[in-house]
Amino acid sequence: MVIAVWGRDGIGKSTLCDALGELAAKQDVSIVIDTDLTQPTLTARVNGKHIDEDASLGKAISGFDGDDVRRYLHQHMRHKRLYYAGLTSRDEYLTYEHGTEADNAAQDFLNKCKEIASTVILDVSGQRTDPFLPAALLNAGYILLLVTPDVQGICWHNAVMPMLKDMYADSRVLTVAAQVQKYQDADAVAKASDIRFDAKLSYVSELRRLRNEGKGILECTTPLGIRLEKQIRLLYERMRGAQQ
Ligand SMILES: Nc1ncnc2c1ncn2[C@@H]1O[C@H](COP(=O)(O)OP(=O)(O)O)[C@@H](O)[C@H]1O
Ligand SMILES: [Mg+2]
Repeated sequence: MVIAVWGRDGIGKSTLCDALGELAAKQDVSIVIDTDLTQPTLTARVNGKHIDEDASLGKAISGFDGDDVRRYLHQHMRHKRLYYAGLTSRDEYLTYEHGTEADNAAQDFLNKCKEIASTVILDVSGQRTDPFLPAALLNAGYILLLVTPDVQGICWHNAVMPMLKDMYADSRVLTVAAQVQKYQDADAVAKASDIRFDAKLSYVSELRRLRNEGKGILECTTPLGIRLEKQIRLLYERMRGAQQ
């Protein structure tokens, strides 16, 4: 199963991908690809373990020889069947090319990941030039469209939906309300707009603290956090159930 998680930057995509990756890794090998080629994301996700720059996703996209995908995959410290691909802290900002070649390399990389993992989760950046964006939207069985329940979120949703329709991807979209600010209200936004949310992720203040400890949604302990965990489990089960 390929799941693409897409939305504007800073709205909880990576946090959701981590939780989905952990759930999938309970069953079998799963890979989370963080497609943001402008920010180092790997170090935090593998608890500060040193990663050689040759093992960066940026390198994979610039010179991927098609065979050796494993060198770009980095194991989670605790969840042994969960692997990450992304940028290392040694990558130079603005190094990587965009364009057709990079798009093709991204598609090849995704194909190889699909061969070795039962679940591949694409943590797609908010950038329009992201080389993984075409592959993600074409290959994903589910596209989780994270939308903040506010004006910016509605505008973003309305801007990307025509493109998703043109790509025949709209039937694979699940629209998810991402309440990353305390006072956002998905129900009010659903009433006031045409957007129908397939799932709602609650605001959980505990998450910011957990993140600094290298932990995520599945380790929440407050009632709100436990509710969010349940929302994500339901979302995951819904996608898994439909695939079987
Ligand atoms: N449901 C949530 N409630 C509150 N804060 C959240 C929630 N999900 C994520 N966050 C916080 O929002 C910030 C951005 O999250 P992140 O997953 O990095 O976003 P993205 O990958 O979309 O840029 C982080 O500090 C994270 O802890
Ligand atoms: Mg992110």
